[in-house]
Amino acid sequence: MSDAQDTMEHYFSGRELARKEAFSGIWGNELHAVFKDVAPYYDVASNVASLGMCKTWRHRFLNAVELKPGDAVLDVCAGTNAVGIGLLKRQPAARVCAMDRSQAMQDVGQELARANGVQIESVVGDVHHLPFQDNSFDVATLQWASRHLQIFDVFREVQRVLKPGGCFYHCDMLRPESPVVQRLYSTYLKGCVSATAWLFGSGAEARSCRDYFVEAVELFYSSREITDLLEHVGFSPVTSQDAVGGVMAIHRATKV
Ligand SMILES: C[S@@+](CC[C@H](N)C(=O)[O-])C[C@H]1O[C@@H](n2cnc3c(N)ncnc32)[C@H](O)[C@@H]1O
Repeated sequence: MSDAQDTMEHYFSGRELARKEAFSGIWGNELHAVFKDVAPYYDVASNVASLGMCKTWRHRFLNAVELKPGDAVLDVCAGTNAVGIGLLKRQPAARVCAMDRSQAMQDVGQELARANGVQIESVVGDVHHLPFQDNSFDVATLQWASRHLQIFDVFREVQRVLKPGGCFYHCDMLRPESPVVQRLYSTYLKGCVSATAWLFGSGAEARSCRDYFVEAVELFYSSREITDLLEHVGFSPVTSQDAVGGVMAIHRATKV
């Protein structure tokens, strides 16, 4: 490892440790209970909470993914399979494997796949260890979940299971670099999460996570840092489409 890579390794390990210390209690059972609670209305609630942005960004994300017939796709933290279903509608000759820790989210996802006339393989488990051999997939996707993960580890796992030349597409809410945008964004997020929990009559777990959803973004990475992290674990080239002052971005990273 060169000196520059060594510095990066220390920097990101430190940042990941700080995130783990702040959130490991929530990332375990608490968040699991939240997704179990919200599974039946997750798709509608996300769209309401984001004032329709969720649908727009999902569309942009799906459009960014390049798929060929026969491609094997791994959707990491697939939730209710919205990404897998959208991809199979565009490329029915692809194969999608969805992995998520929440059986409840995947149960809804399997129902939605059936209703949309597509087949998605489901693997329930923690994505910090992907139960697949090296070089297994042509494409991997990860949308709106990495704030809840140790992403240094997950990005390495994704890199391992992708075939050389395979592409990883990542989309999430990120930490804006401007403190002013960050303050406005945190206020907006707090309001949205509270209003949505009230509107959908969410359980105590979901309501108690209101502050977490805001703090998770505040301790997360900027778009530029996500690029650096992806390059550090061995992807090249890495490109990004950023929007709304850096609060959202889509990254495309190719395995060398
Ligand atoms: C906000 S949802 C996003 C779902 C989907 N990617 C989408 O775009 O709608 C986050 C998902 O990440 C899953 N998740 C969180 N931590 C996980 C972990 N360690 N392993 C596997 N899944 C996890 C949750 O169960 C949940 O379904």
